Amino acid sequence: MLNLRVLVITGAGISAESGIPTFRGKGGYWRNLDPAKLATPEAFARDPQLVWDWYRERRTKIREAEPNDGHIAITRLSKQSSDFLLVTQNVDDLHRRAEHDGTLISPDQMVQIHGDIFLTRCSRCDHAYGEADADSTGIPRCSACGAMMRPGVVWFGESLNLQPIQVVENYLSKGPCDVVLVIGTTAMFGYIVDWALRAIGDDGRLIEINPDTTSLTGFATQSVRKPAGEALPDLVNELLGA
Ligand code: OAD
Repeated sequence: MLNLRVLVITGAGISAESGIPTFRGKGGYWRNLDPAKLATPEAFARDPQLVWDWYRERRTKIREAEPNDGHIAITRLSKQSSDFLLVTQNVDDLHRRAEHDGTLISPDQMVQIHGDIFLTRCSRCDHAYGEADADSTGIPRCSACGAMMRPGVVWFGESLNLQPIQVVENYLSKGPCDVVLVIGTTAMFGYIVDWALRAIGDDGRLIEINPDTTSLTGFATQSVRKPAGEALPDLVNELLGA
């Protein structure tokens, strides 16, 4: 275990080598599909079956996918750093399933800031359940209040959930990090940029892992222009002095 305070922020790019499409990259979802028709509360109100079909298709793809060397390297880093937090924008469960030396990342060391695709939650009340192994069909109804159930993800136009924000804020309030890794995200949301910059403080290192430039490139101490699965095992070795 190293005395290392590390914040890791990931986006769709870390799951690309596992076969999960990104949103804005080549072959990304938003290149061919209109988010307004699939990922907003209005879209769900207009055509809940279409929205469910799309999320179930994505769930199936994710169930069939395996974590890659990038996810595994992050699990390893989480085990060997004294104070670690992973903030992922990904709704897939590949970080959670990435095993290093027989261990998984501990649930209190990560937050899924945009929700969990395998969670099915009520569109009106707090009722929710997991569907990691198999999907319901049609448009499920809430057993508590009868409203439509929806995927447990954050849609455009919705606020982030308070609980994961609280985890990030608590972590940041403890002081700056030694290292901030920003992996596979265009970093187009203000809160992602804000968290990364606050976390480095005056002299932390900001390392970006992305084949392309992003909105954080100008602030990065180091930019690794390689796919995450290729770059992360070496980078984590280097950080751990292994
Ligand atoms: P994007 O699709 O915007 O960006 C993916 C990033 O990954 C791009 O910068 C690519 O260059 C990079 N990339 C592609 N392959 C890579 C690889 N093998 N290794 C490393 N990087 C790679 O995805 P996000 O930034 O995650 O929101 O998008 C943020 C949010 O926008 C998503 O969480 C989703 C979407 O709309 C919600 O669902 C609320």
